[in-house]
Amino acid sequence: MQVIETVAGMVAQREHWRQTGQRVGLVPTMGFLHEGHLSLVRQALADNDLVVISIFVNPLQFGPQEDFGRYPRNLERDLALLETAGVSAVYHPALEEIYPPGFNTAVEVGDLSESLEGAVRPGHFRGVTTVVAKLFNTVGPRRAYFGQKDAQQVAIIKKMVRDLNFPLDIVVCPTLREPDGLALSSRNVYLSPEDRRTAPVLYRALQAAAQLWQSGTRDSLALRSVMSELIATEPAGRPDYISAANPLTLLEYEGYIEAGQGVLLSLAIRFGTTRLLDNILLEAN
Ligand code: PAJ
Repeated sequence: MQVIETVAGMVAQREHWRQTGQRVGLVPTMGFLHEGHLSLVRQALADNDLVVISIFVNPLQFGPQEDFGRYPRNLERDLALLETAGVSAVYHPALEEIYPPGFNTAVEVGDLSESLEGAVRPGHFRGVTTVVAKLFNTVGPRRAYFGQKDAQQVAIIKKMVRDLNFPLDIVVCPTLREPDGLALSSRNVYLSPEDRRTAPVLYRALQAAAQLWQSGTRDSLALRSVMSELIATEPAGRPDYISAANPLTLLEYEGYIEAGQGVLLSLAIRFGTTRLLDNILLEAN
Protein backbone atom coordinates (compact mmCIF):
# COMPACT_ATOMS: atom_id res chain seq x y z
CA MET A 1 0.00 0.00 0.00
CA GLN A 2 1.38 3.37 -1.03
CA VAL A 3 0.96 6.51 1.05
CA ILE A 4 0.96 9.53 -1.27
CA GLU A 5 1.43 12.91 0.37
CA THR A 6 1.69 15.38 -2.51
CA VAL A 7 -0.57 16.53 -5.33
CA ALA A 8 2.25 15.93 -7.84
CA GLY A 9 2.75 12.38 -6.52
CA MET A 10 -0.98 11.65 -6.76
CA VAL A 11 -1.22 13.02 -10.31
CA ALA A 12 1.80 10.96 -11.44
CA GLN A 13 0.25 7.82 -9.99
CA ARG A 14 -3.13 8.61 -11.57
CA GLU A 15 -1.46 8.95 -14.99
CA HIS A 16 0.26 5.60 -14.53
CA TRP A 17 -3.04 3.89 -13.67
CA ARG A 18 -4.70 5.57 -16.63
CA GLN A 19 -2.02 4.34 -19.05
CA THR A 20 -2.28 0.80 -17.73
CA GLY A 21 -6.08 0.93 -18.04
CA GLN A 22 -6.85 0.44 -14.34
CA ARG A 23 -10.09 1.88 -13.06
CA VAL A 24 -9.96 3.59 -9.71
CA GLY A 25 -12.53 3.80 -6.91
CA LEU A 26 -12.10 6.74 -4.52
CA VAL A 27 -13.30 6.88 -0.92
CA PRO A 28 -12.90 10.41 0.49
CA THR A 29 -12.64 10.59 4.30
CA MET A 30 -11.34 12.73 7.13
CA GLY A 31 -9.77 9.69 8.80
CA PHE A 32 -10.25 8.23 12.29
CA LEU A 33 -11.77 5.33 10.41
CA HIS A 34 -14.58 3.13 11.65
CA GLU A 35 -16.62 0.29 10.18
CA GLY A 36 -18.83 2.79 8.30
CA HIS A 37 -15.82 4.07 6.35
CA LEU A 38 -14.59 0.50 5.86
CA SER A 39 -17.94 -0.56 4.39
CA LEU A 40 -17.41 2.09 1.69
CA VAL A 41 -13.88 0.76 1.13
CA ARG A 42 -15.17 -2.80 0.76
CA GLN A 43 -17.79 -1.75 -1.78
CA ALA A 44 -15.12 0.18 -3.70
CA LEU A 45 -12.80 -2.85 -3.69
CA ALA A 46 -15.59 -5.02 -5.09
CA ASP A 47 -16.40 -2.57 -7.92
CA ASN A 48 -12.99 -1.34 -9.16
CA ASP A 49 -9.51 -2.44 -10.21
CA LEU A 50 -8.00 -0.54 -7.32
CA VAL A 51 -9.01 1.75 -4.50
CA VAL A 52 -7.64 5.05 -3.23
CA ILE A 53 -8.79 6.35 0.11
CA SER A 54 -8.11 9.96 0.92
CA ILE A 55 -7.55 11.10 4.49
CA PHE A 56 -7.67 14.86 4.89
CA VAL A 57 -9.27 16.86 7.68
CA ASN A 58 -10.54 19.74 5.59
CA PRO A 59 -10.43 23.06 7.47
CA LEU A 60 -12.64 24.73 4.85
CA GLN A 61 -15.70 22.77 5.95
CA PHE A 62 -15.38 23.64 9.66
CA GLY A 63 -16.86 26.88 11.02
CA PRO A 64 -14.71 29.15 13.26
CA GLN A 65 -16.41 27.81 16.40
CA GLU A 66 -16.31 24.16 15.28
CA ASP A 67 -14.05 21.25 16.14
CA PHE A 68 -11.33 21.39 13.42
CA GLY A 69 -8.53 21.56 15.99
CA ARG A 70 -9.85 18.71 18.11
CA TYR A 71 -11.27 16.54 15.30
CA PRO A 72 -10.02 13.02 16.19
CA ARG A 73 -6.99 11.79 14.25
CA ASN A 74 -5.05 8.50 14.31
CA LEU A 75 -3.14 8.00 11.07
CA GLU A 76 -1.17 4.98 12.22
CA ARG A 77 -4.29 3.05 13.13
CA ASP A 78 -6.05 4.14 9.91
CA LEU A 79 -3.14 2.92 7.77
CA ALA A 80 -3.10 -0.45 9.53
CA LEU A 81 -6.84 -0.90 8.92
CA LEU A 82 -6.52 0.03 5.24
CA GLU A 83 -3.52 -2.21 4.68
CA THR A 84 -5.54 -5.14 6.03
CA ALA A 85 -8.54 -4.20 3.89
CA GLY A 86 -6.46 -4.34 0.68
CA VAL A 87 -6.42 -0.68 -0.38
CA SER A 88 -3.82 0.21 -3.06
CA ALA A 89 -3.07 3.77 -2.04
CA VAL A 90 -3.81 6.27 0.69
CA TYR A 91 -3.78 9.91 -0.34
CA HIS A 92 -2.84 11.92 2.74
CA PRO A 93 -1.84 15.39 1.65
CA ALA A 94 -0.65 18.12 4.00
CA LEU A 95 -2.75 21.24 4.43
CA GLU A 96 -0.43 23.36 2.22
CA GLU A 97 -0.67 20.80 -0.59
CA ILE A 98 -4.42 21.25 -0.80
CA TYR A 99 -4.53 24.94 0.07
CA PRO A 100 -1.21 26.54 -0.91
CA PRO A 101 -0.71 30.23 -0.16
CA GLY A 102 -2.97 32.30 -2.40
CA PHE A 103 -5.56 29.54 -2.88
CA ASN A 104 -8.74 31.44 -3.58
CA THR A 105 -11.32 29.42 -5.52
CA ALA A 106 -14.49 27.74 -4.31
CA VAL A 107 -17.06 25.33 -5.70
CA GLU A 108 -20.54 25.95 -4.39
CA VAL A 109 -23.80 24.18 -5.15
CA GLY A 110 -26.68 26.62 -4.72
CA ASP A 111 -30.03 25.92 -3.02
CA LEU A 112 -29.28 22.38 -1.77
CA SER A 113 -26.47 23.77 0.42
CA GLU A 114 -28.71 26.21 2.26
CA SER A 115 -31.21 24.08 4.22
CA LEU A 116 -30.70 21.59 7.10
CA GLU A 117 -26.95 21.29 7.85
CA GLY A 118 -26.28 24.28 5.60
CA ALA A 119 -28.57 26.51 7.65
CA VAL A 120 -26.83 25.58 10.92
CA ARG A 121 -23.31 25.49 9.43
CA PRO A 122 -22.95 28.34 6.91
CA GLY A 123 -20.13 27.68 4.44
CA HIS A 124 -19.85 24.01 5.42
CA PHE A 125 -20.92 22.55 2.08
CA ARG A 126 -18.89 25.11 0.13
CA GLY A 127 -15.88 23.63 1.94
CA VAL A 128 -17.00 20.06 1.20
CA THR A 129 -17.64 20.61 -2.51
CA THR A 130 -14.41 22.57 -2.95
CA VAL A 131 -12.24 19.81 -1.47
CA VAL A 132 -14.18 16.98 -3.14
CA ALA A 133 -13.83 18.69 -6.55
CA LYS A 134 -10.08 18.94 -5.95
CA LEU A 135 -9.92 15.26 -4.95
CA PHE A 136 -11.86 14.22 -8.06
CA ASN A 137 -9.49 16.23 -10.29
CA THR A 138 -6.34 14.91 -8.62
CA VAL A 139 -7.25 11.24 -8.17
CA GLY A 140 -9.29 10.85 -11.38
CA PRO A 141 -11.60 8.08 -10.11
CA ARG A 142 -14.14 6.18 -12.22
CA ARG A 143 -16.37 5.91 -9.14
CA ALA A 144 -16.48 7.71 -5.80
CA TYR A 145 -18.13 6.35 -2.64
CA PHE A 146 -20.17 8.28 -0.06
CA GLY A 147 -22.33 7.27 2.91
CA GLN A 148 -26.09 7.80 3.15
CA LYS A 149 -25.28 8.84 6.75
CA ASP A 150 -24.59 12.31 5.30
CA ALA A 151 -27.67 12.48 3.07
CA GLN A 152 -27.38 16.17 2.24
CA GLN A 153 -23.70 15.80 1.36
CA VAL A 154 -24.65 13.02 -1.07
CA ALA A 155 -27.37 15.12 -2.72
CA ILE A 156 -25.01 18.08 -3.10
CA ILE A 157 -22.09 16.07 -4.49
CA LYS A 158 -24.36 14.32 -7.00
CA LYS A 159 -25.58 17.74 -8.13
CA MET A 160 -22.02 19.06 -8.43
CA VAL A 161 -21.02 16.04 -10.54
CA ARG A 162 -23.99 16.64 -12.86
CA ASP A 163 -23.58 20.40 -13.08
CA LEU A 164 -19.80 20.36 -13.65
CA ASN A 165 -19.68 17.17 -15.80
CA PHE A 166 -17.23 15.24 -13.64
CA PRO A 167 -16.64 11.97 -15.55
CA LEU A 168 -17.43 9.58 -12.71
CA ASP A 169 -20.26 7.81 -10.91
CA ILE A 170 -21.26 8.48 -7.31
CA VAL A 171 -22.03 5.31 -5.36
CA VAL A 172 -24.07 5.73 -2.16
CA CYS A 173 -23.63 3.16 0.62
CA PRO A 174 -26.05 2.45 3.50
CA THR A 175 -25.53 3.79 7.03
CA LEU A 176 -23.72 1.40 9.35
CA ARG A 177 -25.00 1.35 12.93
CA GLU A 178 -24.06 0.07 16.37
CA PRO A 179 -26.27 -2.80 17.59
CA ASP A 180 -28.39 -0.27 19.54
CA GLY A 181 -29.04 1.77 16.38
CA LEU A 182 -26.56 4.64 16.84
CA ALA A 183 -25.05 5.50 13.46
CA LEU A 184 -21.28 5.03 13.45
CA SER A 185 -19.44 8.35 13.43
CA SER A 186 -15.90 9.53 14.17
CA ARG A 187 -17.49 12.02 16.59
CA ASN A 188 -19.13 9.31 18.76
CA VAL A 189 -15.88 9.14 20.77
CA TYR A 190 -16.70 12.58 22.19
CA LEU A 191 -19.88 11.34 23.89
CA SER A 192 -19.87 10.92 27.66
CA PRO A 193 -20.89 7.39 28.76
CA GLU A 194 -24.30 8.76 29.74
CA ASP A 195 -24.86 10.56 26.43
CA ARG A 196 -23.69 7.45 24.60
CA ARG A 197 -26.48 5.54 26.35
CA THR A 198 -29.16 8.04 25.33
CA ALA A 199 -27.87 8.72 21.78
CA PRO A 200 -29.80 5.83 20.14
CA VAL A 201 -32.91 7.98 20.62
CA LEU A 202 -32.07 9.52 17.22
CA TYR A 203 -32.62 6.26 15.41
CA ARG A 204 -35.66 5.38 17.52
CA ALA A 205 -37.24 8.72 16.55
CA LEU A 206 -36.52 8.11 12.85
CA GLN A 207 -37.93 4.61 13.07
CA ALA A 208 -41.11 5.81 14.75
CA ALA A 209 -41.68 8.31 11.93
CA ALA A 210 -40.80 5.69 9.31
CA GLN A 211 -43.39 3.39 10.86
CA LEU A 212 -46.05 6.10 10.59
CA TRP A 213 -45.09 6.55 6.94
CA GLN A 214 -45.29 2.80 6.29
CA SER A 215 -48.75 2.72 7.86
CA GLY A 216 -49.88 5.36 5.38
CA THR A 217 -49.44 8.70 7.18
CA ARG A 218 -48.56 11.45 4.70
CA ASP A 219 -48.92 14.39 7.08
CA SER A 220 -45.43 15.90 7.37
CA LEU A 221 -46.38 17.62 10.64
CA ALA A 222 -47.26 14.25 12.19
CA LEU A 223 -43.94 12.79 11.02
CA ARG A 224 -42.01 15.68 12.59
CA SER A 225 -44.11 15.59 15.81
CA VAL A 226 -43.48 11.93 16.52
CA MET A 227 -39.73 12.51 16.13
CA SER A 228 -39.82 15.65 18.33
CA GLU A 229 -41.76 13.85 21.05
CA LEU A 230 -39.26 11.03 21.23
CA ILE A 231 -36.26 13.36 21.20
CA ALA A 232 -37.90 15.37 24.03
CA THR A 233 -37.89 12.25 26.24
CA GLU A 234 -34.09 12.70 26.48
CA PRO A 235 -33.55 16.30 27.64
CA ALA A 236 -29.76 15.94 27.34
CA GLY A 237 -30.21 15.98 23.56
CA ARG A 238 -30.93 19.45 22.17
CA PRO A 239 -32.20 19.50 18.57
CA ASP A 240 -30.71 21.75 15.88
CA TYR A 241 -33.39 20.52 13.51
CA ILE A 242 -35.90 17.72 13.11
CA SER A 243 -36.91 17.49 9.50
CA ALA A 244 -39.24 15.82 7.04
CA ALA A 245 -38.02 17.18 3.71
CA ASN A 246 -38.42 16.62 0.00
CA PRO A 247 -35.46 14.35 -0.92
CA LEU A 248 -34.87 16.18 -4.21
CA THR A 249 -35.04 19.81 -3.06
CA LEU A 250 -34.22 19.24 0.65
CA LEU A 251 -36.94 21.77 1.46
CA GLU A 252 -39.19 21.13 4.43
CA TYR A 253 -42.59 19.67 3.60
CA GLU A 254 -45.53 21.64 4.92
CA GLY A 255 -48.78 19.71 5.37
CA TYR A 256 -49.51 16.68 3.20
CA ILE A 257 -46.93 14.87 1.11
CA GLU A 258 -48.37 14.09 -2.28
CA ALA A 259 -48.49 10.58 -3.73
CA GLY A 260 -45.37 9.77 -5.75
CA GLN A 261 -43.08 11.81 -3.49
CA GLY A 262 -40.63 10.34 -0.99
CA VAL A 263 -39.40 11.90 2.21
CA LEU A 264 -36.00 12.41 3.80
CA LEU A 265 -36.39 12.20 7.58
CA SER A 266 -33.34 13.72 9.23
CA LEU A 267 -32.20 15.16 12.52
CA ALA A 268 -29.26 16.87 14.14
CA ILE A 269 -29.12 16.66 17.92
CA ARG A 270 -26.51 18.17 20.25
CA PHE A 271 -25.26 16.27 23.26
CA GLY A 272 -23.00 18.74 25.08
CA THR A 273 -20.75 20.08 22.33
CA THR A 274 -21.15 16.97 20.14
CA ARG A 275 -23.59 17.08 17.25
CA LEU A 276 -25.04 13.79 16.09
CA LEU A 277 -26.74 13.37 12.71
CA ASP A 278 -28.94 10.64 11.37
CA ASN A 279 -31.51 10.14 8.63
CA ILE A 280 -33.78 7.67 6.87
CA LEU A 281 -34.73 8.07 3.23
CA LEU A 282 -38.22 6.78 2.42
CA GLU A 283 -38.78 6.32 -1.26
CA ALA A 284 -41.96 7.28 -3.06
CA ASN A 285 -44.45 4.42 -3.32
P1 PAJ B 1 -16.08 11.63 6.98
O1 PAJ B 1 -16.99 12.20 8.01
O2 PAJ B 1 -14.77 11.07 7.40
O3 PAJ B 1 -16.88 10.53 6.20
C1 PAJ B 1 -16.33 9.89 5.09
C2 PAJ B 1 -17.42 9.07 4.40
O4 PAJ B 1 -17.87 8.03 5.26
C3 PAJ B 1 -18.64 9.94 4.06
O5 PAJ B 1 -19.10 9.62 2.75
C4 PAJ B 1 -19.64 9.51 5.12
O6 PAJ B 1 -21.00 9.67 4.72
C5 PAJ B 1 -19.28 8.04 5.31
N1 PAJ B 1 -19.77 7.55 6.60
C6 PAJ B 1 -19.60 8.12 7.83
N2 PAJ B 1 -20.27 7.40 8.77
C7 PAJ B 1 -20.87 6.37 8.13
C8 PAJ B 1 -21.70 5.29 8.56
N3 PAJ B 1 -22.05 5.12 9.83
N4 PAJ B 1 -22.14 4.40 7.62
C9 PAJ B 1 -21.81 4.56 6.30
N5 PAJ B 1 -21.01 5.57 5.86
C10 PAJ B 1 -20.56 6.46 6.74
O7 PAJ B 1 -17.84 13.11 5.02
C11 PAJ B 1 -16.68 13.46 5.15
O8 PAJ B 1 -15.74 12.77 5.90
C12 PAJ B 1 -16.15 14.73 4.50
O9 PAJ B 1 -17.17 15.68 4.40
C13 PAJ B 1 -15.52 14.48 3.09
C14 PAJ B 1 -16.55 13.94 2.09
C15 PAJ B 1 -14.33 13.51 3.19
C16 PAJ B 1 -14.98 15.83 2.52
O10 PAJ B 1 -14.04 16.39 3.37
